[in-house]
Amino acid sequence: MKRIRRLGILTGGGDCPGLNAVIRAVVKTAALRYNAEVVGIRDGFRGLVENDTRPLGFDDVSGILPRGGTILGTSNRHNPFQYPVLDADGNRTGFSDRSADAAATVETEKLDVLVAIGGDGTQTLANELHKQYGIPVVGVPKTIDNDIGGTDLTFGFDTAVAIATEAVDRLHSTAESHHRIMVLEVMGRYAGWIALEAGIAGGGDVILIPEIPFDMNLVARKIRDREKRGKRFSLIVVAEGSRQVDGELVVARKVQDPSDPIRLGGISRFVGDAIEDLTGIESRYTILGHVQRGGSPTAFDRLLATRFGYHAMETAVDGLFGHMVGLQGTKIVATPIAEAVAVPRKVAPDGDIVKTAMALGTSFGF
Ligand code: F6P
Repeated sequence: MKRIRRLGILTGGGDCPGLNAVIRAVVKTAALRYNAEVVGIRDGFRGLVENDTRPLGFDDVSGILPRGGTILGTSNRHNPFQYPVLDADGNRTGFSDRSADAAATVETEKLDVLVAIGGDGTQTLANELHKQYGIPVVGVPKTIDNDIGGTDLTFGFDTAVAIATEAVDRLHSTAESHHRIMVLEVMGRYAGWIALEAGIAGGGDVILIPEIPFDMNLVARKIRDREKRGKRFSLIVVAEGSRQVDGELVVARKVQDPSDPIRLGGISRFVGDAIEDLTGIESRYTILGHVQRGGSPTAFDRLLATRFGYHAMETAVDGLFGHMVGLQGTKIVATPIAEAVAVPRKVAPDGDIVKTAMALGTSFGF
C-alpha cells in the first residue's frame, strides 16, 4: 500500500458531463479516507507545464456533482511534448518539448500521484509522462464518444445519448407533420456509438455509422419502402464520422493543430441533399453539435463518474501507476493505460446491438 499525501488532478481534451463528479469523488475520498490533500491543475496539461494550480478542498467541490463541464478548465491543444510557442502577440510560432516542465511541476508540488481524466489523447500523454519521467499517473477515461478500450462505457456517453434521443423525438413530430425526411447528425468522431444508441432509442429508420460505410441507393430504397407502406416521413441518424462506401470523410475544417487537425461535421447535409434528389421527398438536416456535451450529467453518468473517482484514489493507494480505471461488467478494474488506448473501441457491425436494430427493420445503408 502506497502512502498518498498529496495528489494532483487534471481534466484534458474535450469536456463532457460527469467530469466534476469525478473531481468531487477524488477530493472527498482523498480527504475522508486518506487524509490527503488535492491540488487542482488548471486547463489540463497547460497547467501542469506552467505550474498553474489551485488547492481543492471540500468547499471547492460542494455543489458541483450535477454541473456540466469541469471546474478545472480543460484544453486539447497543450501537448507537453509538442507545446505551442507563442510570440508577444499570442500568435503561435512553433512547438517545443516542455515535458520536463510538466515533470518539474509534479516535483515542486510534491505530488504522490497525478490523476489524469481524459480521452485517448490525454491518457496517451499521461502514460508517456509516466514512462519517460516516472510520474505516478492514474488515468480516468471520459468521452461522449465511448471509444476508449479498457472500459465497457465512459461517463458522458449516457448523457449524450439521452440528449441525442430527445433530438430524434423532437424531429419525429415535425417530420411527420411535414411528410419530410429529417437527418440528424450526432458526434462520436470515428465511432458510431451515439448514433447507434440514440438512433435505436429514438426509433430512427436509418442509422449511419463509421463502422458500416453506406450506399445512398440502399438508404433511398428503405425510404421508398416506407413510403409504399404509407409512411410519408422518415428519420435518419448519422454519425459525424460516417462515409459512403469508397467515399471520403466529410470534414468541416482542417486546422494547423497537431493534436486535432480535423474538425468533423457536415455529413448530414450531404445525406439530406442526396436523399431528396434520389426520392423526391423534401428533406432537412440538423447538426446537434456541442449541445451533446453540455449541461448536467444523467444519474447513470454521475454514478459511473463517482465510482471512477473513488477507484482512481484506490488505484493510487495500490501503487498501480500507469493504469486507468474502467468499468468491466459491473466491476471497476484498473488496466494498463497502454493496453486501454492501443485500439479504439468501435461498434461491431455484427454485434448484438446492430443485429437488434436490423431485426426491427432499421437500415444501415448497406
Ligand atoms: O471527442 C469528443 C468530441 O465531442 C467528438 O465527438 C467531436 O468530434 C469532437 O470532440 C469535437 O471537438 P471540439 O470540441 O474540439 O470541436
